[in-house]
Amino acid sequence: MAVIRSVIQGVGAYLPEQVMTNADIAKIVDTSDEWIVARSGIEQRHIAAEGEKTSDLALAAAHKALVRSGIDPTDIDLIICATATPDRTFPSTAVAVQAGLGISSGAAFDIQAVCSGFVYGVATADNFLRSGAAKRALVIGAETFSRILDWEDRSTCVLFGDGAGAVVMEAQPSHGGRDDRGILSTLIRSDGRYQDLLYVDGGPGSTKTVGYLRMNGREVFRHAVQKITGVIEETLVSTGYAADEIDLFVPHQANKRILDGVAKKLGVPIERVVMTISKHGNTSAASIPLALNHAFEEHRLSEGNLVLLEAMGGGFTWGAALLRW
Ligand code: UT7
Repeated sequence: MAVIRSVIQGVGAYLPEQVMTNADIAKIVDTSDEWIVARSGIEQRHIAAEGEKTSDLALAAAHKALVRSGIDPTDIDLIICATATPDRTFPSTAVAVQAGLGISSGAAFDIQAVCSGFVYGVATADNFLRSGAAKRALVIGAETFSRILDWEDRSTCVLFGDGAGAVVMEAQPSHGGRDDRGILSTLIRSDGRYQDLLYVDGGPGSTKTVGYLRMNGREVFRHAVQKITGVIEETLVSTGYAADEIDLFVPHQANKRILDGVAKKLGVPIERVVMTISKHGNTSAASIPLALNHAFEEHRLSEGNLVLLEAMGGGFTWGAALLRW
């Protein structure tokens, strides 16, 4: 049966030049390289330069994804930017990217689902493309978390970093078969009862300030493994695939121990898991497209591969996307 599938035609990413190692952080707060590596797997993170905005990172990643897709920017009719660190409260970071790309048609908006933002963005774009409401979408995850970190709080400031990644998705006619390219399934979930376990203690409508990130790491960790495993199992059941059929698992990079735990619980061999956290820490909505871009550049992605994306973050929000590359 002829259907429309959303096919990823290009991926790109950008990391700011400045690198901050664990040794650099140990000069600011009472921590050590040993503690950070053992508890999270992080060795370094990238920090945006003074004046470098989320939209600058987003634009650099978008340019790369567009070049690789071979699609002209003016043919993009939907731009979704997933970010929790927008340039301004409004307008959206997505419209800044739109203007930067020289596009003045279609629609551009931000999605706020923190670390799950990229999966939420892919799910939203997929629905727009399959319904015929858009033909070519740019989905970006971009963050400058260094701006909302309390650099005196060692329990959070060691974990996060800045970066951006993007994909170009195109609506394509398909037979809808198991081996046809494109997004096969997206599932997004949230549960607002857990808002206070991971949040920013400010905002225009409450404190009129930006605020700083606060997290009960131990509790978030406990929920993460459970919720991520649950949504992946739901995805596999609904699509009829088994965990050992996944060629590449591209998860949100929050903690190496979470990823090891999820892979083990699902029975996905660790060599099929893309792990980039050591090089850039937790970059929230940017981490999945950064990891996807890394896999692409390392030639770990071949046409026809079954690829699983997954994320969990503040809200709580979480979700998964299964696709045929
Ligand atoms: O992307 C959104 C989702 N986010 C996540 O998934 C993050 C989930 N959580 C985690 O990744 C982990 O909970 C952390 C990496 C944040 C923490 O690891 P943990 O094994 O849960 O450590 P903990 O919070 O239980 O802290 C253990 C000890 C504490 O000391 P006491 O109370 O045992 O004496 C902390 O005070 O480690 C101490 N500690 C540190 N020590 C050195 C906390 N932060 C640091 C630090 N350096 N940076």
